[in-house]
Amino acid sequence: MVEEVGEEVDGFEKGQRGFRRDRSEFRRQRGVSLSPRGRAGDDHSSNLTEEEAAPICDGALTSYNFLKVIGNIQSGQKVLINGASGSLGSAAVQLAHHFGAEVTGVCGPSNLDWVRSLGADKVIDYSREDFTRTGQTYDLIYDTVGKSSYGNCKGALSEKGAYLSPVLSMPLLFQMLWTSKFGSKKAKFSATGLKPVPELRILLQELLKVFEAGKIKTEIDRRYPLDQTAEAHRHIDTGHKRGNVVLVME
Ligand SMILES: NC(=O)c1ccc[n+]([C@@H]2O[C@H](COP(=O)([O-])OP(=O)(O)OC[C@H]3O[C@@H](n4cnc5c(N)ncnc54)[C@H](OP(=O)(O)O)[C@@H]3O)[C@@H](O)[C@H]2O)c1
Repeated sequence: MVEEVGEEVDGFEKGQRGFRRDRSEFRRQRGVSLSPRGRAGDDHSSNLTEEEAAPICDGALTSYNFLKVIGNIQSGQKVLINGASGSLGSAAVQLAHHFGAEVTGVCGPSNLDWVRSLGADKVIDYSREDFTRTGQTYDLIYDTVGKSSYGNCKGALSEKGAYLSPVLSMPLLFQMLWTSKFGSKKAKFSATGLKPVPELRILLQELLKVFEAGKIKTEIDRRYPLDQTAEAHRHIDTGHKRGNVVLVME
C-alpha cells in the first residue's frame, strides 16, 4: 500500500494498493513472495487476494514474458514446459493452455495429475522418461528450471523451434548469441525483472486481464508468517515447491 507520495511522484495516491517489484529485495528473497493479509484493492487486481497477487510479479509475469514476448507463442503450437510444477512452470502451463497451445508438462511423479489439472494435454515424469528422446518435437521448449540445455533439446525442437530458459549460464549465453546469427532453431534468455519499467507495466496489465478472466490462478504451495522466513527458504531449497511460497505479514 502506498503510505506517502512525494511531490515529484505521479501516478500514485496515498492508500492505493498495487504491485511492487524491488530488485534488491527480490535478490534477498528469491522465490518467496511477501503478502500483507487482506485483499489487493487496486483497479487491476480487485478479484485477487493479496496472497494471490504477491507472487504474480515473479512466476506468472516471468512466464508471460517468456511465452508471449520472447517465444511469441501461437495457438496450435506444441509447447513443452520443463519444471511444470514450480512457480514459473505452473503459471506457464496455464498461460500456454490459455494461448491455445498443445501443452506438455514435465514434472516429478507426485505432480503429474496436478499439472494435468492446470491445463497440460500431456505430462512426462522426468524421473522415468527423458523428454528430449521421445521422438516428439516442439515449437517451444520452455525450461523453467534450467535442468536441460539447448544442446540437449535441439533434436526435440521443430525446424524453427526455440529453447527458452530463465536460468542463465555461460553455454546458454553463447548459444543465444550463436543462434541469433546462424541456423533456424534459437536459444533465448531474458532477465524479466531488468526490463524497462514501462514495458513491465504493460505486460503486468495484460497478464492481470488473464487473471481477471479466470484463465490463470496463483497456485500457493505453503504460507509462512514473516518470522518463519528461514523455514520458507528451507522448503524452497528442496527444489520441489509446488507453485508458490508466500510470506504473510499480519
Ligand atoms: N530470468 C528471469 O526473468 C527469472 C525470473 C524469475 C525466476 N527465474 C529463475 O527461474 C528458475 C525457476 O524458478 P521457480 O521459482 O519456478 O523454481 P521452483 O518453483 O523452485 O521449481 C521447483 C520445481 O522444479 C521441478 N524440478 C526439480 N527437478 C527437476 C528436473 N530434473 N526436471 C524438471 N523439473 C524439475 C520440481 O518438480 P517436482 O517437485 O515435480 O519434482 C519443482 O516443482 C529459478 O532458477 C529462478 O531463479 C528467472
